[in-house]
Amino acid sequence: MPATVVVGTQWGDEGKGKLTDLLAKDMRLVVRYQGGHNAGHTIVVAKETFALQLVPSGVLYEHTVPVIGNGVVVDPAVLLNECDMLSERGIDTSRLVVSGNAHLIMPYHYELDRMTERFLGHNKLGTTRRGIGPAYADKAARIGLRVQDLLDPKIFRQKLDVVLREKNAVLSRVYNRLPLDGDEIADRYLGEIAPRIEPMIGDTVALVHEALAAGQEVMLEGAQATFLDVDHGTYPFVTSSNPTAGGACVGSGVGPRDINRVVGIVKAYVTRVGSGPFPTELEEGAASDALVERGREYGTNTGRRRRPGWLDLVMLRQAVRLNSISELAVTKLDVLSIFDTLKVCVAYEAGGVRYEHVPYHQSVLHEAKPVFVQLPGWAAELGEAREVGDLPAPARAYLDLISAHVGVPVTYAGVGPERDQYVSLAP
Ligand code: IMP
Repeated sequence: MPATVVVGTQWGDEGKGKLTDLLAKDMRLVVRYQGGHNAGHTIVVAKETFALQLVPSGVLYEHTVPVIGNGVVVDPAVLLNECDMLSERGIDTSRLVVSGNAHLIMPYHYELDRMTERFLGHNKLGTTRRGIGPAYADKAARIGLRVQDLLDPKIFRQKLDVVLREKNAVLSRVYNRLPLDGDEIADRYLGEIAPRIEPMIGDTVALVHEALAAGQEVMLEGAQATFLDVDHGTYPFVTSSNPTAGGACVGSGVGPRDINRVVGIVKAYVTRVGSGPFPTELEEGAASDALVERGREYGTNTGRRRRPGWLDLVMLRQAVRLNSISELAVTKLDVLSIFDTLKVCVAYEAGGVRYEHVPYHQSVLHEAKPVFVQLPGWAAELGEAREVGDLPAPARAYLDLISAHVGVPVTYAGVGPERDQYVSLAP
């Protein structure tokens, strides 16, 4: 049984949590394949809100094994806190398996994330300051500590001492910060954290392949999204991993032939946090404020206000290509009920040229002006809709426009935050 990938098609915060939760109903394994606790998934079950950062959404179902794949960067203290929070609320986290090959986020990664941002000044990226970029940088530089190093105190200490020599020199001499204490870090990671993490560590590649071979359903869950991808996103305003579907292979240890379904999550409008180009961004004003308030567009974990804009089908076409998306799930359609008229971007114009796909040259993207089509709003609440027929005609037209323009069917439309607030359009 081949695997399903769930991937965000914009700049994150598309509402993946709710959809992965819905799909997880049929899954045996749910594997997170990249990112770290820079992500935030909100899932609402019976008016209870669960904000997850690291633990895959599948944790809320008893039949599902949540897996943190090798492509994820893990702050183990955050992971344990999240498990404690879930346990306190009656959710069993004992099935969780963490890849021994996943890299650890260390205290110096936080410091370096903050310092790099400070030194970039006006050019700062607006990272989540959770040490994500520095942890992936160390992975690529081959000086990272991995989850499996927690199993061997001697190795952990050796690696830590080597890397701290360089990190402390940079922190004190370049950034004028106090050096970090190796004993303190080792005590915390080996003394407090390792004994609790140890039972969770496993061979996640074997687990995924055994499940696939046994014909069980496997979901590969991306964090962040296509345009935050370090290769294909709006570099440098991106995260340091590959959220695109190819990253699902690398970050979980399956080959492309093990995947046959790629679900692209597209919010009915667009938001972005942090800096970077955003062609369909709404100017500050009443419409922008209304969208942010109605859509509750504030970071799940950081509380930052997201920048809102109209739906961008140029980006979506590109996302369909980059991820070989086979179907689209449109989220938060109900949020658009506040508008009399809706705008959808179908192309860009820059320097007298019309672009149907995202121009590769960032300077062109920066000056690109969206070509909008206008559609009538539906002036009705959608929260009660459960069948296609319950949707007002203009809302259906909005969904039809999306699939017509990008050539992929829309199989799902979210109409509210609760688990059951959606319309299935699957054939
Ligand atoms: P980092 O991932 O913390 O290094 O941040 C890099 C960029 O990705 C920043 O613009 C962040 O705001 C953005 N980012 C990271 N994670 C998320 C997410 O889960 N949703 C939306 N944006 C994110």
